[in-house]
Amino acid sequence: MANSSNVTPNDLNAFWMPFTANRQFKKAPRMFVGASDMHYTTSDGRQVLDGTSGLWCVNAGHCRPKITEAIQKQAAELDYAPAFQMGHPKAFDLANKLVALTPDGLDHVLYTNSGSESVETALKVALAYHRVKGDGSRFRLIGRERGYHGVNFGGISVGGIVPNRKMFGTLLTGVDHLPHTHDLSKNAFTKGEPEHGANLADELERIVGLHDASTIAAVIVEPVAGSTGVLIPPKGYLQRLRNICDKHGILLIFDEVITGFGRLGTPFAADYFGVIPDIMITAKGLTNGVVPMGAVFVKSEIHDAFMTGPEEMIEFFHGYTYSGNPIAAAAALGTLETYKDEGLLTRGAELGPYWEQALHSLKDAPYVIDVRNIGLVGAIELEPIKGAPTKRAFAAFVKAFEQGLLIRTTGDIIALSPPLIVEKSQIDEIVDGIRKILQQID
Ligand SMILES: Cc1ncc(COP(=O)(O)O)c(C=O)c1O
Repeated sequence: MANSSNVTPNDLNAFWMPFTANRQFKKAPRMFVGASDMHYTTSDGRQVLDGTSGLWCVNAGHCRPKITEAIQKQAAELDYAPAFQMGHPKAFDLANKLVALTPDGLDHVLYTNSGSESVETALKVALAYHRVKGDGSRFRLIGRERGYHGVNFGGISVGGIVPNRKMFGTLLTGVDHLPHTHDLSKNAFTKGEPEHGANLADELERIVGLHDASTIAAVIVEPVAGSTGVLIPPKGYLQRLRNICDKHGILLIFDEVITGFGRLGTPFAADYFGVIPDIMITAKGLTNGVVPMGAVFVKSEIHDAFMTGPEEMIEFFHGYTYSGNPIAAAAALGTLETYKDEGLLTRGAELGPYWEQALHSLKDAPYVIDVRNIGLVGAIELEPIKGAPTKRAFAAFVKAFEQGLLIRTTGDIIALSPPLIVEKSQIDEIVDGIRKILQQID
């Protein structure tokens, strides 16, 4: 079954892989050469159950026909159209379909090519918005500890992951951070939103007290922090952030790169929590991860504030060569159709109780110090090996792959986010697989 594209390459040296232990990987490579629905096929012909939707992005499952066909057709019809001062119909069609899906008020969209670019775009819109309104003293951006907002300079500045920040010098100035909300001493083994910690949103008041609201442009948070191990917001926390932002004229930005497109059993986390941000960042599930694309949604009042001045002038000096790229737009349209046909944006709500019960059955498995879940996301936190953090979880990841299950680990946390087409029997398979693996590792 080998052909030129799926033969395992024998020299792995040239590709410097992202967020990867390159030397370890290249000694024992883990290669995928095919995928369909819930499974990957490895280069040695094994099936691997996808417990993570690739990297939290393949929400509709793999190689879905409507998406594949849309890409193939588009590539033959219109491959590329200039993104600046020119358009093509699918970019507008997609924008209309997207804003019909987003929470009320988020009625305009800027396209990007990734989550990281969506973050930079959102931060720039926030800063420029205050400036066009004559409020240019608002230059500060507030992020959160353990936040992940991609890898570009703005994103790592507001992000709160030490290794992602410490090598890169000064970063953006004028950035402050809220505390994270993860507290196992009070909230371990919570099902859904934890009881304790809404008061941590009040730290924003302290930051406002320190810098004065007139200097703060925006607060950016992930509604559920994914990359640092599925940190679920305490009950009432996001509403409290919203209220404080409103009180002080600060924009609230939700980074929904992971939570967008059905992950919590609602189209967006903003729907799940009933808290609507001023700017919403998406990527990943927008095209089912198939073609790189991101989208940033803004409230009309933000968009409209830019639509002044001479009509022949560019209103916002920002954009990418591939913003709204025809093939990406076609992939996104095929993805939205698939989500709609199969009810995937709300399937997480139907499966949520089963998922919750299955995951929490791991409470008594070896090394488990917490299990948490929301929608179709879950985390199993392991006790770290003394003096060797991450080692235990990484061993679990490698064993899982060998035994036909793709999980994701971050620190000593196993994070799970299967495609939204997952069946109950496959949830059992994921949970049984993890139990078995935890019994096999040190
Ligand atoms: C919340 C969040 N923001 C931004 C990003 C960055 O997205 P990308 O890797 O597409 O640049 C990610 C990626 O995991 C993410 O989880």
